[in-house]
Amino acid sequence: MKPETFYIKNYGCQMNFYDSERMGALLQEHGLAEVASADAADVVVLNTCHIREKAAEKIYSDLGRLRRLKEKSPAMVIGVAGCVAQAEGQEIVRRAPIVNMVFGPQTIQDLPAMLDKYQETGETIMRLDFPAQEKFAALAAQNKKFITRRAAAYLTIQEGCDKFCTFCVVPYTRGQEVSRRRDEIIAEAQGLRDAGICDITLLGQNVNAWQCPISGVGLADLLRALAQLDGIERLRFTTSHPRDMNDDLIAVFGDCEKLMPYLHLPIQSGSDRILQAMNRQHSVAHYLDIMQRLRAVRPDIALSSDFIIGFPSESDADFEATLSLIDEVGFAQAFSFKYSPRPGTPAAAHEAQVPEDVKAARLGEVQKRLAHHQRRFNEAQIGRVLPILFEAEHKGAASKHKNQISGRSPYLQPVHVAFPEDDASKNKSENKSENKSENKSENTSLDERTKSAFYGLCAPVLIEAAGDFSLRGRLLNE
Ligand code: SAH
Ligand code: SF4
Ligand code: F3S
Repeated sequence: MKPETFYIKNYGCQMNFYDSERMGALLQEHGLAEVASADAADVVVLNTCHIREKAAEKIYSDLGRLRRLKEKSPAMVIGVAGCVAQAEGQEIVRRAPIVNMVFGPQTIQDLPAMLDKYQETGETIMRLDFPAQEKFAALAAQNKKFITRRAAAYLTIQEGCDKFCTFCVVPYTRGQEVSRRRDEIIAEAQGLRDAGICDITLLGQNVNAWQCPISGVGLADLLRALAQLDGIERLRFTTSHPRDMNDDLIAVFGDCEKLMPYLHLPIQSGSDRILQAMNRQHSVAHYLDIMQRLRAVRPDIALSSDFIIGFPSESDADFEATLSLIDEVGFAQAFSFKYSPRPGTPAAAHEAQVPEDVKAARLGEVQKRLAHHQRRFNEAQIGRVLPILFEAEHKGAASKHKNQISGRSPYLQPVHVAFPEDDASKNKSENKSENKSENKSENTSLDERTKSAFYGLCAPVLIEAAGDFSLRGRLLNE
C-alpha cells in the first residue's frame, strides 16, 4: 500500500526546523499530504536532537508511544532523522525495532527515494553519510516551490562545525563546516521573497564562518547582497562564534540597515579557565571587545547568548565570574543549560564532574539573573515606537486571540497589538452577513482573512507595556 499521509515532529535547533520544513515539502511533492498528528499518518518522521541527554532520551519515549500506534496500523513507516540518527545509527533500531528508516541531517534530500526503497524491499534504511553539497543542491532546486504564509523564514547557508568545543556533539552529528554557494543562497532568498517572506534569518552552526566556496567572500558580503533584494526587509543570522566575528562583519551592523540590531553570540562561561577547558578558543576580554566594537557602530544593538552551567571543574569562583559577565553585558535574552555529558566528547570523561544539585542551584541563580536583565531590556522599550513586523500566529494560537495581532520587534521580542477597533467591528458585521449566506466554507475564515492583511506588514507600534517575554503596544497610523 502506497503511503498517503505524513507527520514530521521536530526537535532541537532552527537548523532542524529548516530541515523538517524541507522534508515536508519533499514529501508533498512526492504526493503525500501532511496531517496534524502521528495517529493519522502513514509515515512518521522524528527529526531529532542530540545536544543534551534529555533531548536524546525524549526520542525513545516518543518511539515507545509510536510503537502502540504501529501495533494498530502495522503499515505505518517510522523514520528517525537528525542528530540522534547520525550519532546513534544502528543503536536506534536495536533499542526501537519499529524504526524503518534512520538517516542523518545531510541526507534528507533523499527521503522520498528512501521511502520508496523501504516500501519496495521492506528492509531498514540506514543513511549516515555526509554529502552536504548534494543536500544544498537538491534543496536549491526544491525551494523555489516552497510556499509559506508566514512573513519570516530561515535559510540554512552553512552546516557543520570544526571547532570541537569539548562538551559538544555537533561536529560529530553535523560533520565538518561546509558552506553553501552564494548564488544558490541568493536564489533561495529570492524564492522565499517571491513566496511572501520579508524577514530572513540565515542559519548555520557557525554561521559567521560562512565563506562562499566559489568566490571566497564572507558573510558581510552576503548580507550586503541580500539587503539589495527588494521585498526583503529584515535580515538576521544565527548562531555565531566569537572567533569568527571579524571587522567586516562588525562593520556591516553599522552600514546595513536591513540587518537587525540583534546578535546571538554564545559565550558559554564568564571564566577564562573554563572557556579554555571548553576549547572555546576565545577569552572573556575578546568577547567584551566584540561587544564594544558592535555598540560603537550600532549603539542600539541587543545581545543574546548561551551559557553552560556546571561544566566539569567549574568552581564557585568560575561561576561568580559568569554572573559578573551577565551583569556587565546585560543580555537582552539568553539561553542557559546545565552541562550534560555527551558520549564520545572529551568533557564527558573529565573526572571533576559537578554534582547535579550544585548544577541545578547554579542554573537557578543564572536564570534569575538573566530574567532580570531580559525584563529590564523589555521595560526599556516602553514609550518607544518600534517597527513591528506582523506574522501569522502558530497553529492553534489564532483561535485563542481573536482580537489580537502579533509580530516581532527588531530585537525579536514578540509584540501583541489589540486588533484595531474599526477592523474588528467590520469583521464582526461581515461575519454576520456571511453567516446568512450559503457559503459555509467562507464564514469561518473571516477573522483570519482580516488579520492576514497584516501578515508581512511592518508598522510602527507604540510600546505601552512589557512582560518577561513579550511587549504590548498600540498601532500608530502612519
Ligand atoms: N554553534 C553554537 C552552538 C550550538 S549548540 C555555538 O558555538 O555557540 C547550542 C547550545 O547548546 C550551545 O551554545 C551550548 O550552550 C549548548 N550545549 C551544547 N552542548 C551542550 C552540553 N553538552 N550540555 C549542555 N549544553 C550544551
Ligand atoms: Fe558545538 Fe562549539 Fe561547534 Fe558551537 S562551536 S557547534 S558549541 S563545537
Ligand atoms: Fe540538536 Fe543537532 Fe541542532 S544536536 S541543536 S539538532 S545541530
